[in-house]
Amino acid sequence: MYMSIWCHNLNLSSRSLAIALVACVTLVYFSYSFNACLFASLSRTLQQSNLRNLLTLPQRNDTSSSSSSSNNADATTTATPSTSNATTTPPTQPAAQPLPSIDGAPKYQMLRQQGLRPSRHLPDTLIIGVKKSGTRALLEFIRLHPDVRAAGSEVHFFDRHYQRGLRWYRHHMPYTIEGQITMEKTPSYFVTKEVPQRVYHMNTATKLLIVVRDPVTRAISDYTQAASKKSDMKRFEQLAFVNGSYAVVDTNWGPVKIGVYARYLERWLHFFPLSQLLFISGERLIMDPAYEIGRVQDFLGLKRVVTEKHFYFNATKGFPCLFKSEARSTPHCLGKTKGRNHPHIDANAIERLREFYRPFNNKFYQLTGINFAWP
Ligand code: A3P
Repeated sequence: MYMSIWCHNLNLSSRSLAIALVACVTLVYFSYSFNACLFASLSRTLQQSNLRNLLTLPQRNDTSSSSSSSNNADATTTATPSTSNATTTPPTQPAAQPLPSIDGAPKYQMLRQQGLRPSRHLPDTLIIGVKKSGTRALLEFIRLHPDVRAAGSEVHFFDRHYQRGLRWYRHHMPYTIEGQITMEKTPSYFVTKEVPQRVYHMNTATKLLIVVRDPVTRAISDYTQAASKKSDMKRFEQLAFVNGSYAVVDTNWGPVKIGVYARYLERWLHFFPLSQLLFISGERLIMDPAYEIGRVQDFLGLKRVVTEKHFYFNATKGFPCLFKSEARSTPHCLGKTKGRNHPHIDANAIERLREFYRPFNNKFYQLTGINFAWP
């Protein structure tokens, strides 16, 4: 009988032991899973933010376009912010730590291990022109946005390298992660006949950014650039008109021809609806860069991250400059080839050119629905 009671007790205590054991194991399992989950989510958040930083590095080595490397070199120049007459003076910014290059193979391995695959994509957005209207300023300003990644130099795919194919083009694009916009700027796209159709064939949904400026000042800016490369260049007045008088404008001369914006725009509108095009005023980009960049961010569906806080007016340069950018953590302006002094042009020549452009400008206002109010 003692034996049977002992056996019964033993049975009972081993059952409770087993139950306690199961409860213990379950508890340990759940607490382990919970902690693992918490840790994974924390480390993913950290990785994401690190990766975003990595992917907003300077793009100078991402592209290798030989055609426009000079543009790249012109992108920015250090400029001690002027205190005299400047509307704003930048505070001294702490120097940022140099960021590592994205092209290093070990980094890619690291990113892949984290399940994040930065890759190159064809552009979603193009800055197609217009040459000498502020295209570099626009690119440098919009790429301050962490969700915009741009090719550093002009790739000229659609006008010069089209036969190389889209794979070649994609290879010239920067690395992006999900949610980032890929952008490229080549101002000659706007005036090259074949380009609208070629862009359309790449992606019918491509967003197009076009900076425009009073065509007379644009022509003078274009001429100033050409003259800076050729010491024996004729005077502007001699080139802009036929036979030395101001009677006939030479519409075959590049700097004059490009300013007939309506003519080129019509070609683009043949392939793209107006809603896919955003016109940026070159004049306003100088006077109020934050306003124009705000419009660009809205158009691209981006949060307004780039604001007036990013800009200051440099009185010496006479243009808005940046407190810091992808490339530099200190205040700087665009390069010395941006914002050149223009030569003096005869006032009668300017008046005659204004007269010439007036009907084309009106046509352009009509097509875009925007009155740029050029004189
Ligand atoms: P100028 O050098 O004739 O003044 P692009 O980049 O398309 O070649 O345009 C060059 C023009 O951009 C310059 O022409 C200048 O007027 C204009 N621009 C607009 N914002 C500028 C800025 N923040 N710094 C320098 N130039 C700027």
